[in-house]
Amino acid sequence: PKITYRVGGDSTTVDAAVGTSLMQLALQNAVSGIVAECGGNAMCATCHVYVEDGPVDRLADVGAAEDEMLDCTMSPREPNSRLSCQIPMTDEIDGLVVRVADEQH
Ligand code: FES
Repeated sequence: PKITYRVGGDSTTVDAAVGTSLMQLALQNAVSGIVAECGGNAMCATCHVYVEDGPVDRLADVGAAEDEMLDCTMSPREPNSRLSCQIPMTDEIDGLVVRVADEQH
């Protein structure tokens, strides 16, 4: 499955291994703008992305911890805001497009 990250005016599409998170995948592929201070525990809100395109409705719902941290993002929270560490890579979300938030902390 593939995921596209938009960062500023650029976009990068990467091949994803199922089981990693969208945060890990971004770091592994040197996608800029993801800080991920807490290492993927829904405790820092520095892996903020906006889900923009693709199979958006196949994403799992925002969890309670994620919801709480999304109120602490540096860039404004929008209805399509997610923490990328809380999105596991699956075949179902092949083709998803996310925009990395401009400011993470
Ligand atoms: Fe910290 Fe996602 S890496 S909340």
